[in-house]
Amino acid sequence: MIINPPQEIDNFFVKDYQKLYNAALDYPEYFWENIAKELYWFKPWRKVLDWQYPYARWFVGAETNIVYNALDRHLKTPTKNKTALIWEGQDGLVRTFTYFELNEAVSRFANALKSLGIRKGDRVAIYLPRVPEQIISMLACAKIGAIHTVIYSGFSIEAVKNRLIDEQAKIVITTNGYYFRDKLINTKNTIDEAVKEVQTVQNIIVVKRLNIETNMVAGRDLWFDEVCHKADNICSTEIMDSNDPLFILYTSGTTGKPKGIIHGHGGYMVGVYITLKWVFNLQPDDIYWCTADPGWITGHSYIVYSPLINGVTSFFYEGPPDFPDPGRWWSLIEKYKITKYYTTPTAIRSLMRYGDEIPNKYDLSSLKILGSVGEPINPEAWLWFYKIIGKEKCPVMDTWWQTETGMHIITPFPSTPLKPGSASKPFPGIIADIVDEKGQSVSPNTQGYLVIKNCWPAMFLDVYNNPQRYKELYWEKIPNVYFTGDSAKIDEEGYFWIIGRNDDVLKVSGYRFGSAELESALVAHPAVAEAAVIGKPDELKGESIKAFVILKIGVTPTDNLKKELREQMRKLIGPIATPDEIEFVNSLPKTRSGKIMRRVLKAQELGQPLGDTSTLES
Ligand code: WTA
Repeated sequence: MIINPPQEIDNFFVKDYQKLYNAALDYPEYFWENIAKELYWFKPWRKVLDWQYPYARWFVGAETNIVYNALDRHLKTPTKNKTALIWEGQDGLVRTFTYFELNEAVSRFANALKSLGIRKGDRVAIYLPRVPEQIISMLACAKIGAIHTVIYSGFSIEAVKNRLIDEQAKIVITTNGYYFRDKLINTKNTIDEAVKEVQTVQNIIVVKRLNIETNMVAGRDLWFDEVCHKADNICSTEIMDSNDPLFILYTSGTTGKPKGIIHGHGGYMVGVYITLKWVFNLQPDDIYWCTADPGWITGHSYIVYSPLINGVTSFFYEGPPDFPDPGRWWSLIEKYKITKYYTTPTAIRSLMRYGDEIPNKYDLSSLKILGSVGEPINPEAWLWFYKIIGKEKCPVMDTWWQTETGMHIITPFPSTPLKPGSASKPFPGIIADIVDEKGQSVSPNTQGYLVIKNCWPAMFLDVYNNPQRYKELYWEKIPNVYFTGDSAKIDEEGYFWIIGRNDDVLKVSGYRFGSAELESALVAHPAVAEAAVIGKPDELKGESIKAFVILKIGVTPTDNLKKELREQMRKLIGPIATPDEIEFVNSLPKTRSGKIMRRVLKAQELGQPLGDTSTLES
């Protein structure tokens, strides 16, 4: 099935994808350099790309700061008085910021951080829900050259603690609590617990989101508003090398320890700037809404940095799609006249379940372009989104990318003839392919490993504190190409169809978990001897978590124990990691060297062929 582009093709930045793709393929450095020239640099580059396997460094020798391009630059233009951000809380509270006001708020907080001793290169952790201070804190760090790590506010003590220890954060920014649906989440208590074993944290800065009693430790804990109030509203933007780190974002891999993915200022800025502009055909009068959380890469690239660099007005909402009623998000599209709307397959599927009457009650005619990210979108959900939400006039941009890639890699443009369920083709300048384990391209419609065969500007710089892991995981599986960890197919017309992960990474509602990370939370329970976790196809969440547990000798398997184990996962990792199924077993399939073969478990569970079991312990 092909959905043809709307008539306005002349108004799109990308009118002829193939022509642009071919031109970029012939001269990729020239292609990226021309885009980089649209942005501000304190000092130009000596070299566009320096590729020394396995490290790529973009815009070598150049100096910039992503915040200069996101804020400072606009203050010299009429964008200064344009609305940068409209925020609405779950409780209906609304706050707006013009570019001028946002810059002022960022400058104040940047000065506050400086007065607390934060300097270029220091790590600052941000553990906040979707409130404006989350964005302000990220920008304030970047402005002064500090490295931010946003930790998703749904994570619990253990997950937070591990990240704080790995990055050696000096300051943590949190809130005194917030409501998620009707449940009070006390983020401050979580942080108080998490920092007990983290020596490096000197201060906790607390955003007062709720008027509730808050335990503030004298000398250590400070109110966000108070530190800002005392600070000056003018702060110069630090000059950064193009390859200086901007942020660390932890993401799950195949081991129990999340990886700190490092992105830098220059290349990342160029990549995120142009991808959103072209894929969502950004226009000055757009009201853009990306429903992600800045706790994940989508929020970093496409809520915070790219929309601001592009000077658009963004809407930012605190709450989930269906609270207090399943029309909540649609009502916001109507209220704010959202033109570009970027969300996830899980959100689309969950809202689809309520039927068409609910979205049909709202005026969604402001919408022009829709987007999806984070997991494969099934054609049924795609078509529902296209027909019921977009009224068959808004192209659906199914964007494939990763924390590591920083920016869209495989994506349609509004001018692309679309195939529901396919992320279309590589962004210009990128060579993506499907290969077998030897690195040979496979024939059309054959499943294989999705790899990227050249460099792109927003590629991550390294794995924090672990260059070995960077090399092994991404560059050595198939020598000299970037190994994405996904399986996919290409059809005879060159469209990419993403199948899912080919490693032990699960995608539950778009959230990324390593099996080993989930298993270690289970094994931490005194009754558990061994555990294995797999992802099972789930109509709503894409994948659901199933845990197989071997209990210690003498422990009785009971439903109560299952409940306890579920609780354990919530407590250690977060509610999003709660398993849907727990099964007590006596043994697990293992290799002769003792590694659990989750692939075999999954095949058994789904009634599929077991594949190569030659290494299976007999
Ligand atoms: C999956 C999210 C199919 C994929 C931006 C990838 C997708 C992982 C899509 C990265 C898509 C992301 N279609 N699958 N459009 N987008 N994925 O790091 O498995 O949270 O490897 O980044 O999400 O997840 P991450």
